Amino acid sequence: MRETAENLEKMAKFGISEGISELILTTRNDAAAGDKLSSNAAPFGIIWKNNRMFLHLFKGSKTCENLTREDFFAANMTDDAVLFATSTFYDLKEEEFENVVYIDEKSASPVTAVIPFLKKADRVVLFKCVERTEAEDSVIIDIEPADFIVLNLEKEGFIVNRGFYSVVEACVHLTRYELTKDRQYLDLIRHHWSLINRCGRKRDKEGFDIVRKRMNEI
Ligand SMILES: Cc1cc2nc3c(=O)[nH]c(=O)nc-3n(C[C@H](O)[C@H](O)[C@H](O)COP(=O)(O)O)c2cc1C
Repeated sequence: MRETAENLEKMAKFGISEGISELILTTRNDAAAGDKLSSNAAPFGIIWKNNRMFLHLFKGSKTCENLTREDFFAANMTDDAVLFATSTFYDLKEEEFENVVYIDEKSASPVTAVIPFLKKADRVVLFKCVERTEAEDSVIIDIEPADFIVLNLEKEGFIVNRGFYSVVEACVHLTRYELTKDRQYLDLIRHHWSLINRCGRKRDKEGFDIVRKRMNEI
């Protein structure tokens, strides 16, 4: 990772640390000439291990398709369980996105990118894709932070609520169940459901309603 100490410090302040941080990535969809710009959102892990920051994207997702074409994306931080679950399984409305114009002055000839982010996010990190390594069923993309946006000045940190994290876990298990149809994931989802009922906030329970809605559709 070719990163400045200043950027890494900002990342840490934003709460993105070593290990895997789960954020909602927003990317620009491909548009035919003359078409309106449209955007995509879905949760993915930002992996920061052994001084390397990267994404591991399984082929088949819109995000993977977009990031094999686009060099910039936004990583949106939120603890809104509804936003997490909706963006995992459904398309968000275009009104839920805003665009930021980013000028990459580090490139030999400065590049201007229009990057979508979520209006409801608390904080946003803009990332640049610096290298792609393609395997049969996935792509690894090395990334580096490019800029930082604070949208919600009121929110300085996250409270650990087991209900919220259980919604995130339930979303992960359901995406895996969709891929494999392995019923062990349904047991795991049931376990998280009971935690959400016990520990979750109203918004976490509403987030899990979206997981249940999706379960009824598949
Ligand atoms: C918390 C969380 C983390 C995820 N991380 C990844 C990941 O790192 N790589 C991946 O390929 N899919 C990951 N997924 C699955 C994608 O979010 C899921 O396939 C999604 O439907 C893709 O949406 P899209 O087609 O709009 O991009 C994750 C899901 C959740 C809920």
